[in-house]
Amino acid sequence: MRLPETQVALLETASATETKTVAQLAEELGEDPTAVTRAAFELEDAGLLAVDEHVAEDVHLTDEGETYREDGLPELRLYEAAIDAGADDDPVPMGELIGAAGLEGPEVDIALSNFARKGLGRIDSGEVIADTTEGPDVDPDADPETEALEAIASGNAGYTDPGILDRLETRGLIERTETTVRSVTLTDEGVTAMMEGVEVAETVGAVTPELLTSGEWEEVEFTEYNVEADAETVHGGKEHILRQTANRVKDVLVGMGFQEMEGPHADAEFWINDCLFMPQDHPARTHWDQFGLDVPPMEDLPEDLLERVESAHRDGVGPDGDGYHSPWTTDVARQVDLRGHTTSLSMRYLSGEQVGDLEPPQRYFSVEKVYRNDTLDPTHLLEFFQIEGWVMAEDLSVRDLMGTFTEFYEQFGITDIEFKPHYNPYTEPSFELFGKHPETGELIEIGNSGIFREEVLSPLGVECDVMAWGLALERLLMLMYGFEDIRDVHGTLCDLELLRNVEVVH
Ligand code: PHE
Repeated sequence: MRLPETQVALLETASATETKTVAQLAEELGEDPTAVTRAAFELEDAGLLAVDEHVAEDVHLTDEGETYREDGLPELRLYEAAIDAGADDDPVPMGELIGAAGLEGPEVDIALSNFARKGLGRIDSGEVIADTTEGPDVDPDADPETEALEAIASGNAGYTDPGILDRLETRGLIERTETTVRSVTLTDEGVTAMMEGVEVAETVGAVTPELLTSGEWEEVEFTEYNVEADAETVHGGKEHILRQTANRVKDVLVGMGFQEMEGPHADAEFWINDCLFMPQDHPARTHWDQFGLDVPPMEDLPEDLLERVESAHRDGVGPDGDGYHSPWTTDVARQVDLRGHTTSLSMRYLSGEQVGDLEPPQRYFSVEKVYRNDTLDPTHLLEFFQIEGWVMAEDLSVRDLMGTFTEFYEQFGITDIEFKPHYNPYTEPSFELFGKHPETGELIEIGNSGIFREEVLSPLGVECDVMAWGLALERLLMLMYGFEDIRDVHGTLCDLELLRNVEVVH
């Protein structure tokens, strides 16, 4: 019988009486375990080897587990301190014992809850009473959790009570991982084949032009591939799901007839706020909310537009208009900030500054980054992607706005959008959009929208209606993939499994 080299080597090393693991054999052969596994499966198919699989658990200490193994579990340190302080006779104030036991930060809570659980004593009105009756379950010198930590550290987790392992896992002191262990033995057929003699066949892994032109391909033996064999998981580079989803959003909007806007991340407050009829003393315009940049003011603002915007702020628009009667200076308008929304781009485009005057109907969008001085939490970051968009046409109504959102979100499988009346200085009416989180069922805010006011459109020279919105890309992602913390997809705490495995369907 002729077989490929690795298979022959494996047959020679495997035994009919002693089961050997793939890892052992790979070491003996000096071969890669993946190659040995592949050869083992091929020989199993040929009936020469028996491959047995079982799941093995590997248990190891976490960093916290290792610390407690060295220093003692917090509850036992508390107990020792209590005995030293005589708390078996008279109650001792907790603070004193915490100091004596050297417990710090989260260790204090850990010590207190486990102290009571293990029956080491009681805590009453801030005082600790140690229990030295030492019932069958209470023996601080033979604490099963401490013993288990030792056993695991020396690689003997196998003898530990599964209940204790579960407890240590809940406490975050150990980690358990499962791996498939394969072991092989020679079958009777394998033994017979070996006795009859097995030779190494030179096999060819790939067809080359030389093999084809020389005609040699007819003679050679090709390596067989087992496409079902386990292979190592390769985590190649991949486009981030946020970027993938951004691209999909762009495709959808282009499909709905929109064109993409472009513009600066750092822009004059004029484009970010003033054009939007946001008074200069509006609370959202303080340094608490926006990131001001220490750069020269933006000089090239269109003078005539600047005047019309100032006039709208001071006196309002139209015969019945009224302004804000609040301070307004061009110095503030020229100050450069990181944009807090991409509505600055909409202003640049609607003013005609970016691509010339626009005649209705028009549809524009951008999927771009914005920057806000928010407090980090599960739904807020300091920067996020906004899906900005607007439609310019005659006689638009809220129905058009709602219809556009319904159509847009349907493309992502989201069909239960809810609307809430809202206030923006620049739109009237205004609506916030909400979507239901697929896991928690909670309604989360996913966007803000409205129809631009006269005070915004008139200075820009737009004479028809414009409806507009800013939607959060990250929140759309939350609805699509069900993660609950925005930091699962961004930054150092991100969920690598999610990022590796989620597929964005186009
Ligand atoms: N700029 C708004 C925000 O960031 C979104 C918006 C844009 C609302 C245009 C109405 C009109 O929340």
